[in-house]
Amino acid sequence: MVVKESLRMYPPIVTPLSREVKEDCEFEGLRFPAGSSVFIPIVHMHYNEKFWPNPKAFDPERFHSSKKKDIHVASFLPFGLGPRNCIGFRFALMEGKIAIARLLQRYCIQMCDLTEEEIKMKAANIALTPESGHIYLRCVHR
Ligand code: HEM
Repeated sequence: MVVKESLRMYPPIVTPLSREVKEDCEFEGLRFPAGSSVFIPIVHMHYNEKFWPNPKAFDPERFHSSKKKDIHVASFLPFGLGPRNCIGFRFALMEGKIAIARLLQRYCIQMCDLTEEEIKMKAANIALTPESGHIYLRCVHR
């Protein structure tokens, strides 16, 4: 739940997903001619109040299994969606969870004087990055 909420608020890939329209179609009054490109902005979907009430709040409970049915399939896109989604997403999730578990086995992670209350982010090429270049935290040995 914590990993997913982190990926919602800070999706590592910030460039919009792109898809080519295969045949003329219409969706919610918009016409999409065949051959045109559609860009789906990941970050905007993740902060859309229609899907995520109070989107700026870090709330891992959003991803509790009892609420799974409330999450729109296309509202959470850190690894894209459909037949061309990220082939490495299971590996990336496993690696991330193992890294966090190993870290927390040895250290308590705390805020320190240099920790920003609200981390400002920027897009560097395709990746989301802290604007200052750093996120400062204190690691205390357990
Ligand atoms: C946190 C880590 C990662 C994130 C956030 C991420 C995110 C993404 C996203 C957003 C896409 C585009 C999906 C779409 O258009 O629907 C993608 C595609 C892809 N990712 Fe990842 N990825 C991650 C890790 C990895 C890893 C570890 C691998 C390989 C081991 C990988 C391999 C790929 C490949 C090959 C594609 C292109 C798939 C295709 O076009 O069919 N990714 N990834």
